[in-house]
Amino acid sequence: MVMIAPSILSADFTRLGDEIRKAEEAGADMIHIDVMDGHFVPNISIGQEVVKGIRKATRLPFDVHLMIEDPDRYLSDFVDAGADIITVHLEATPHLHRTVQWIRESGKKAGVSINPATPVWSLENIISEADLVLVMSVNPGFGGQGFIPQSIDKIRTLKRMVSERGLDTMIEVDGGIKISNAREVADAGADILVMGSAFFNSEDYSEVVRRFRVENQA
Ligand code: DX5
Ligand code: ZN
Repeated sequence: MVMIAPSILSADFTRLGDEIRKAEEAGADMIHIDVMDGHFVPNISIGQEVVKGIRKATRLPFDVHLMIEDPDRYLSDFVDAGADIITVHLEATPHLHRTVQWIRESGKKAGVSINPATPVWSLENIISEADLVLVMSVNPGFGGQGFIPQSIDKIRTLKRMVSERGLDTMIEVDGGIKISNAREVADAGADILVMGSAFFNSEDYSEVVRRFRVENQA
């Protein structure tokens, strides 16, 4: 079953706890949290203290997407804050293998993300170590951007890489996902779809999840 991970970057920050509870009630599978440092990406968003605060709002897994330089410095903070999946960018850290191992040794799931211009083959020597690969289908930094169509081919290539190696690495796709393109992205090989603006800018979160499930039925 394809999973839906609402990204709280597009939630109403004046009532973040309620927004997360509503996403859980609507049937979301996990909560996607975008952490941005103003260096690796041009925007600044949520830090570890906020993650710790909202941890009390839900039992859903926290899928923490670190769009920050030198993520090693903050890994233990996000573990302590209650992250379940910690994803770092391949482009943001020179010793990715060590970073991924550290995350796994801390008992959390480790994700590796690639930007739109980063080829799938650059994952070759890390994919067997990662629990998840996050394919960015927009340039990271902002919600509400359009899906980059070439991402479909990347997802297919990645899916082939995972299958050929007999791995169970999950494939997550982030950026520009809507009900109208969810099926195509899932069919290309995605296991988890992040949905920011299309989820939180809608009137009825339950209806989004319901349509997502209908759309992705076999
Ligand atoms: C972009 C973030 C995304 C973003 C997705 O840098 O990583 O998670 O919130 O938002 P939408 O779904 O609006 O493209
Ligand atoms: Zn994200």
